[in-house]
Amino acid sequence: MRRYPALDHGAMSHRPSRRCSDPFFVARQQDPENMRRWIAQTYVFLAVEQGQILGVGAMNESGEITLNYVSPDARFRGISKALLQRLELQASYLGIRSITLQSSLTALRLYESAGYRRNGPPTKGFGITFGHPLIKNL
Ligand SMILES: CC(C)(COP(=O)(O)OP(=O)(O)OC[C@H]1O[C@@H](n2cnc3c(N)ncnc32)[C@H](O)[C@@H]1OP(=O)(O)O)[C@@H](O)C(=O)NCCC(=O)NCCS
Repeated sequence: MRRYPALDHGAMSHRPSRRCSDPFFVARQQDPENMRRWIAQTYVFLAVEQGQILGVGAMNESGEITLNYVSPDARFRGISKALLQRLELQASYLGIRSITLQSSLTALRLYESAGYRRNGPPTKGFGITFGHPLIKNL
């Protein structure tokens, strides 16, 4: 698990096997400046194995998890759980008392097993998706 930037340009410039599903790759191609700004305002952690980024988790300074994404090739190996624990540790270093996020339907089981609770009704996201507001008091 690595903090980004720590700085990890080697891992960032790798060529992932599923490039289109790599959010860093897509965002960097579309607007690198915007991506740099976002990273500078966010606590970003990477799960890296043999130089390949397998997952990324990010949280803003208010304790909102803004990104949690694991490569389809690496799912259900505990990566997201480890990213979540690292984000929670970061929140406690920052004195944040509660973490919030909008979960996908797929990820609800992960968050509920990690102690997150519903924090309001689902809200409409992109396309047909819904965000499920969750909260965990640290
Ligand atoms: C949802 C996602 C983040 C989970 O990451 P992951 O690394 O595969 O998850 P982990 O291996 O850490 O598993 C953690 C928990 O997921 C749940 N889980 C395990 N297998 C699962 C499955 N087949 N289906 C659904 N949930 C499952 C379990 O609750 C598990 O915790 P437990 O073993 O203590 O019960 C990942 O699949 C993903 O990136 N999905 C697409 C993007 C997305 O929806 N991101 C979330 C935005 S909030």
